[in-house]
Amino acid sequence: MPMTLSLAGRRALVTGANSGIGEAVAVAVAAAGAKVAVNYVVHPEAAEAVVARIRATGGDALAVAADIADPGQVAAMFAQLDRTWGGVDLLVNNAGVDGPRAVAWEADPAQWLRVLQVNLYGAFLCAREALQRMTARKSGVVLNLTSVHERIAWSGYSAYTASKAGLSLLTQTLAQEAAPFGVRVVALAPGAIKTPINRSVWSDPKSYADLVEKIPLGRIGTTDEIGRMAVVLLSDAASYVTGTTVFVDGGMTDYPSFEHGG
Ligand code: BGC
Repeated sequence: MPMTLSLAGRRALVTGANSGIGEAVAVAVAAAGAKVAVNYVVHPEAAEAVVARIRATGGDALAVAADIADPGQVAAMFAQLDRTWGGVDLLVNNAGVDGPRAVAWEADPAQWLRVLQVNLYGAFLCAREALQRMTARKSGVVLNLTSVHERIAWSGYSAYTASKAGLSLLTQTLAQEAAPFGVRVVALAPGAIKTPINRSVWSDPKSYADLVEKIPLGRIGTTDEIGRMAVVLLSDAASYVTGTTVFVDGGMTDYPSFEHGG
């Protein structure tokens, strides 16, 4: 089969698509030919701007509101897509929060739980709705955005690392469950990508220098670099990829401190 990165005819839902990596994934998926639902929970105007950006280049998009941590809102969002498009072929679980920085013994339990509710439970709720539809149709792809912190410990972010490690093994389990139905479930783990979530790091020269020390390729990544890989993994070019994580991190998980010594 010739390699094709076209997503023409597919209906995609991208959660948290009104900024950062989610926005770039929505734009890239639309550019590859899919219809895209731009999910958001706050800042509807930002979601509408992403929709307008996609439509301006001839793409097809709509904005859909839902707090992914709320089962009722998630069910309503998928029902809306059923009514509008007759279903969903591609789900990108992107929405995520990192929570306030605090060592575990000083963390606020409610804030800790909220990170798990968005990053892990929210992804599960969306995957659950999507896989009900995809397994019935015997086609579809779920792409979960994890992080290098599914593998790398990160002081001050125990909820975030726990959620991403959990999402990684959730991906593998869902992939095992869905494979007999011809449905793939894959994780994409970005490294440090320039987005609003880490603005305080890349906007400060000292913090940026410290960050770059951790990246063999010597620079922060762009959201476009994640969007492109998302299209590959969602497309038939990745037809034999399931139950695994693809790292797009400039080598951050390659133990760069071992370039010297050891
Ligand atoms: C975090 C970023 C961080 C990156 C690398 C991501 O998962 O959201 O804030 O820069 O990991 O540490």
